[in-house]
Order: sequence, then structure tokens, then C-alpha cells
Amino acid sequence: MRLAGKISLITGAGSGIGRSTALRFAEEGAVVIVNDVHEENGNQTVKEITGRDGEAIFIQGDVTDPADVQKMIEKAIGAYGRIDVLFNNAGISNVGALHEVEPDVWDKIMSVNVKGVYLPSKYALPYMMEKKSGTIINMSSCAAEMGLAKRAAYSTTKGAVLSLTKAMQVDYAPFNIRVNALLPGTIFTPFVEKYLKSSYDNPEEAIAGIKTRQLSGELGRPEDVAAAAIFLASDESRFMMGSPLYIDGGVVFGKNA
Ligand SMILES: NC(=O)c1ccc[n+]([C@@H]2O[C@H](COP(=O)([O-])OP(=O)(O)OC[C@H]3O[C@@H](n4cnc5c(N)ncnc54)[C@H](O)[C@@H]3O)[C@@H](O)[C@H]2O)c1
Repeated sequence: MRLAGKISLITGAGSGIGRSTALRFAEEGAVVIVNDVHEENGNQTVKEITGRDGEAIFIQGDVTDPADVQKMIEKAIGAYGRIDVLFNNAGISNVGALHEVEPDVWDKIMSVNVKGVYLPSKYALPYMMEKKSGTIINMSSCAAEMGLAKRAAYSTTKGAVLSLTKAMQVDYAPFNIRVNALLPGTIFTPFVEKYLKSSYDNPEEAIAGIKTRQLSGELGRPEDVAAAAIFLASDESRFMMGSPLYIDGGVVFGKNA
């Protein structure tokens, strides 16, 4: 029970990495506040947790909408009195070299992936500061550290999240709040399935290419990222501050011949 009694809020927990992390957090004894814009998927995550005797509630909300986010944080505080762990996980993807990205698509991805980290943090931080305690985990990506083909807008957002993580850490260290980032490689989730279908004529060939790119020779699983999130959420990582944690099958620092 590495997260016993920790009140944890996970955005985008209706699918993929967020759902897997929610399930694993609950198994480790955390109370999980599941957020997602997608009501049915968020409720399904809660159902899976409570079906295994874990404790969870669903709060629907769009992480890009200040009123929604403020309401979400207030509901969480109303229910549990504090937020120990905030995992800013919600995110979307898109494909295209810079000249192929339409302005509305650029704005949308910046909004979900960057503003979607800013807003929940902004409204949760005052409660953490008051308690002089808290952990924030921001979802970046290995795309923040390497040039990936046709991922201009997405990479921009994940680089911004990494920079924001470091800046936040400096400001909130005096309040005993830790802020770290996760940098996954390619993890097989609905997000990646959609990306493969929309951007490649032959998704199987694309998967084979990604497998070669990663030294692991295989795609990651959501549970791989969930395990890293448990570490960052727990007191075991007490000496990690403003750090990127790579879960990438070696894609950033390795090089396949
Ligand atoms: N899958 C990968 O290979 C990979 C790699 C690196 C980083 N990531 C990041 O991990 C995070 C989760 O990705 P995933 O692969 O699990 O994706 P996913 O699509 O399976 O899940 C993302 C969830 O976020 C929710 N969401 C989207 N917009 C939202 C909004 N405005 N407000 C609230 N919720 C919203 C979706 O409804 C969905 O349930 C993303 O930030 C993504 O960029 C994924």
C-alpha cells in the first residue's frame, strides 16, 4: 500500500494511461478522483475501481475550461478536504509538420495539453500550499526531448509541459510541494491506435517502425507508466524535484544501429 490514504486527482482518467494509473493508485490504497471530459469512460473507471473494493469518485470536467476546473477542485476538496496528488494526464495528439497544422488545431492541442496542466494546478495549488504538502505529476512525453517526424504541435506542447514543471517546482518547493514530469515513449493506448490509423496507410508497418525505434523492441503498456506515476506520487520519490522521468523503452538515450 504505497499510496495509503492519499487523495489523488487524475485528469483524463477515462482511458489509456490515466485509467490504468487510476486502477493502480487505488490498488496501492489511494482514494482516486477520476476526471475526464468523457462521462461514460470516467464512470467506467470508477466502476472498475469500486468493483475491486477501491475508493473512487468521478468528476466530469474539461481541463481547458476554467469554470469546470474550479468546480472540479472545489468538489474534490468538498468531498475529501485535500488533494495530496494531482496527476495532470489528460492530453490529445495530432499529426503534421508545422506547415500542415491548421491554426484551430494548433490552438486546440495547446489548450488541452498545456492549459490543461495550468488550470488544475492553478486551482489545486492554494489548497496544497495551505497544507504545506502535495505532489504534482505532469504528463510530458519523450517528444519533448527528441525531434519526432510530423509531431510539431504535439512536441511543442510536451516541451512546454516539461519547462512548466521545472518552473513550478522552483516556486512551490518552499511549500513542500514536489512537481515532476513523466516522459513516456510510445505506449499502446486508444490515443496511439487513433494516431496510427489516421496517419499511416499501413498501421502494422508503422507499429513495426516504432518497435525498431525503441530499444525495448516493443511498445510500452499503460501499466508501465502507471508504475512510474506511483513512484512519483509516493513518498519514495521524496528527493525527486522538477525531474523528468523517462519510461520510453530507451528511445531518447539509446540508439539502434
Ligand atoms: N500513449 C502514448 O504513447 C503517450 C506517450 C507519451 C505521452 N502520452 C500522454 O499521456 C497522456 C494520456 O494519453 P493516453 O495515451 O492514455 O490517451 P487516451 O486518449 O487513451 O486518454 C486520454 C484521456 O484524456 C481525456 N481528455 C481529452 N481531452 C480532455 C479534456 N479537455 N478534459 C478532460 N479530459 C480530456 C480523454 O477523454 C481520454 O479519456 C496524454 O497527455 C498523452 O499526450 C501518451
